[in-house]
Amino acid sequence: MFANLPVPPEDKILGLMRQFREDPREHKIDLCVGVYANEKGETIILDTVKEAEQRLYDTQKTKTYVGIAGDPAFNQAMQQIVFGEDYPTERIRAVQAPGGSGALRLISELIGRHKPDSRIWLSTPTWPNHAALLNVAGMPIGYYPYFDYDTKTVDFEAMKAALKTMGPQDVVVLHGCCHNPTGANLSNEQWDEVAQIAVDTSFFPFFDVAYQGFGDDLVTDAYSVRKFADTVEEMAVATSCSKNFGIYRDRVGCAFVMAKNAAEADVAFKQLQTVARSIYSMPPDHGAAVVSIIWNDPELRQKWYDELEAITARMLGLRKMLAEKLHVATGSDRFDFIADHRGMFSMLGITTEQVVALREKHAIYIVGDSRMNIAGLRIDLMDTLVNALVDVTGKE
Ligand SMILES: Cc1ncc(COP(=O)(O)O)c(C=O)c1O
Repeated sequence: MFANLPVPPEDKILGLMRQFREDPREHKIDLCVGVYANEKGETIILDTVKEAEQRLYDTQKTKTYVGIAGDPAFNQAMQQIVFGEDYPTERIRAVQAPGGSGALRLISELIGRHKPDSRIWLSTPTWPNHAALLNVAGMPIGYYPYFDYDTKTVDFEAMKAALKTMGPQDVVVLHGCCHNPTGANLSNEQWDEVAQIAVDTSFFPFFDVAYQGFGDDLVTDAYSVRKFADTVEEMAVATSCSKNFGIYRDRVGCAFVMAKNAAEADVAFKQLQTVARSIYSMPPDHGAAVVSIIWNDPELRQKWYDELEAITARMLGLRKMLAEKLHVATGSDRFDFIADHRGMFSMLGITTEQVVALREKHAIYIVGDSRMNIAGLRIDLMDTLVNALVDVTGKE
């Protein structure tokens, strides 16, 4: 069975994490992996999560299965977080999933099993795991233009032109906010245009929302999904609580389907559960129960809003500071875009050689395509990073 198994290639980001761990230099800086770290460089557990875990510990009476679709209270909480508290529920169904990754897989399995002639479209570039997660039933995967490496903004004209050629068999994966890896996002007006293109061409919108609240705030970051919900007949959304609740390892996500009407939504819901049953049977409970406790207690919910707001404000502050310092140090505006990007990451658009030089000469680790984790920055390391970037990229 195992004798002739080929060794799979190492995941690039996990490979860099290993390299970082093994790097003996004390001043090394990790700006690779997508986790939020505080001012001390620690990824701590939110106070609200700790408090909810304590309540869970005190009150949970059973560890029996939660059911294929997960905890209805969690699914309802997620629906309110993503679509808004008063959004009508008739056409939407939610299935708790093991992380955003699990939700992405559930939805693509549903599409692959029932409409295998679909084509999946990803942005150029996208989160590297998208292609692997969505590679179901031999559905071909294509790429639509997204990032303009010169301006470090969305190449909206090219994106629109590509989307206008789509049809009903095309499934377009859209990052709802905080695009990973680039940090460049559509404006609300641009989302309006894309929603209209979805209506005109009947492409199927498939949202990935892994960073809601990490861009500006929970509501601003949900603009895209909510606009589409108001505009299109059908869509799917995969969400994650890994980042905004900081419960990465608890594997908490939710898969939504929005159908033309309640009857079709019910069938899609049953089919999603059939998919889940055939992959992992039942989702894990702990993290989802924590989310549900926080959301359903007004005091805890407010505390979570405050904690999330502090995280986002810190990331925005780091962006601004880095952009300003680079502006002064390079005597140019070529890194100003960092302040305009949103979410955990920014694609710096520097060369592979410069990325390698950052690592080898300065012990600063960013991903090979020049994606930098803003959330891994610290104020006390800012000047070191700025000097290293100027060193490897030169002044103007
Ligand atoms: C764009 C994107 N989608 C989905 C995910 C999946 O998140 P999870 O850890 O909840 O599976 C991530 C995680 O990094 C991501 O960056």
